[in-house]
Amino acid sequence: MNKSTLPSSIDIAAPGYVQHHGVKEWVARIAALTKPDRIYWCDGSQEEYDRLCDEMVRAGTFRRLNQELRPNSYLAWSDPTDVARMEDRTFICTEHQEDAGPTNNWQSPVEMREALNSRFDGCMRGRTMYVVPFSMGPLGSHIAQIGVELTDSPYVVVNMRIMTRMTRKVWDVLGKTGEVVPCVHSVGAPLEAGKSDVPWPCNKEHKYIVHFPETREIWSYGSGYGGNALLGKKCLALRIASAMGRDQGWFAEHMLILGVTSPDGHKSYVSAAFPSACGKTNFAMLVPPPALKGWKVTTIGEDIAWIKPGKDGRLHAINPEAGFFGVAPGTSAKTNPNCMASLHSNVIFTNVALTPDGDVWWEGMTGAPPPELLDWQGQPWTPESGRKAAHANSRFTVPASQCPAIDPEWENPDGVPISAVLFGGRRSNTVPLVAEAFSWTDGVYMAATMGSETTAAATGKVGIVRRDPFAMIPFCGYHMGDYFGHWVKLGKTVAHRPHIFCVNWFRTDASGKFVWPGFGDNMRVLKWVVERCQGKAHAVETAIGWIPEYHDLEWAGLEEFTSEQYKVVSSIRADDWLLELDAHDDLFESLKARLPRELMLRKELLRLSISD
Ligand code: OXD
Ligand code: MN
Repeated sequence: MNKSTLPSSIDIAAPGYVQHHGVKEWVARIAALTKPDRIYWCDGSQEEYDRLCDEMVRAGTFRRLNQELRPNSYLAWSDPTDVARMEDRTFICTEHQEDAGPTNNWQSPVEMREALNSRFDGCMRGRTMYVVPFSMGPLGSHIAQIGVELTDSPYVVVNMRIMTRMTRKVWDVLGKTGEVVPCVHSVGAPLEAGKSDVPWPCNKEHKYIVHFPETREIWSYGSGYGGNALLGKKCLALRIASAMGRDQGWFAEHMLILGVTSPDGHKSYVSAAFPSACGKTNFAMLVPPPALKGWKVTTIGEDIAWIKPGKDGRLHAINPEAGFFGVAPGTSAKTNPNCMASLHSNVIFTNVALTPDGDVWWEGMTGAPPPELLDWQGQPWTPESGRKAAHANSRFTVPASQCPAIDPEWENPDGVPISAVLFGGRRSNTVPLVAEAFSWTDGVYMAATMGSETTAAATGKVGIVRRDPFAMIPFCGYHMGDYFGHWVKLGKTVAHRPHIFCVNWFRTDASGKFVWPGFGDNMRVLKWVVERCQGKAHAVETAIGWIPEYHDLEWAGLEEFTSEQYKVVSSIRADDWLLELDAHDDLFESLKARLPRELMLRKELLRLSISD
């Protein structure tokens, strides 16, 4: 590379243990473009984490929480314009537009590279460029992938240390020529000489979250928040990894993974895909009702699963992440006691409220709100303020190892064998509490046609069904029709395929009230699911799949849930399903250029059996 393009004073020398020439050359090239004041190679140590947190406390980015109440924990309040993933600024840049498909924002790689080159030129002036080596998945696992993120945000560095395996041992795994996903991130706010910094630098006008699935690169500009900036998560582990999985014969999925142990000690693993706001973290950490004695749920992951055929003819899954980046509002000792217990220490909170004694609070955390708080913007707040104290997308970042329900196998480099895959959405009608697909292809159809009703909070409108196939609409790095085809095809190569189920916790009665109690009682459905996989549970055949009758579920401890109520949550009405199939037609029409024939055939068959 041309050294003369580097700022003359900058030391680009990598530590001796970094042997990867490609990475060293790339770091020098990005430094020449972004022109940081210095480069720092992170080692992922506790000492480094503590030092960066201290620096952020001094800079006003972090507030140290009360050491007694929440040891080694911090609170960050973001810029009010930088609070969530930005799907309209998320791009998939493939050479041919058809390869990104109609559900992604596409731009030509040539044009995008031009735009990025001009945005990134000098964007790190006045800042440090951190080099963050990380592994998604247990270090050295044959299912894991290595990334290196270059970022000018220390907030990103410390979050990446919780969310990934960020350690200097990554360089040993990489060696001189190992495969690595390069990730470049900047908050897009150069610090001009003599100017003081703001607590949450970002670029209010320009944001780009860009993926090049063909060359496996990620570039992110302008935002410091969550999935926009912690590039191992949605960008690498879903959008880039989904394209890798298509090419290499595995799946990268927006799924939790949990273990279920039955009273006789039989252990099964289940993965499940739900769109946002459907209680994925709660389900991953479910506490069974006491009346279901001897049943136990353990957590492997709550957001992403990488699933690969194993030598034993089964699908094996790992959680590529090492932490939880969960939504705080609604999380409580009642809705998710395991999650609350995880948050005792070593947590980074973002955009929640601050209590007068230096602890955190968010809507739904306790029955009654505290009498006074500082809200997520640092403004005094009381219950009469008439606004939320915590932002609706406020988050906690916490090591997965702190979860009391963490499964002993959660770091097994070979993953865990999956017996069942669940797909769920938020539907007030039409979709029953649970149904098992007749076959793998029928299950793919169920997942491909998944939908979720919008909530008033998101759109102002209630009950509009948005199709979110496999809960992957925002996260699939290629054409959704090809993605369905990959599922159909790879499944055929697996000798012992998991059973596929759809679930729906959200059916309502005539007055609009949820009928199914949800949360821990979802164990009743999970029990039926794992027993179906063992050939032990009874079901009846319907047009859409096998479903349990009332007496097929365990009701101990919930005897007041009547068979009439069960009918409300499990009925399959022909009128509803004919309308539903019309909606599937619309989805399939948009994907028809790449839609697998098997799914078209399944739809025709469904229409016939429903009209019967
Ligand atoms: C998440 C999401 O943050 O799906 O996990 O948006
Ligand atoms: Mn998610």
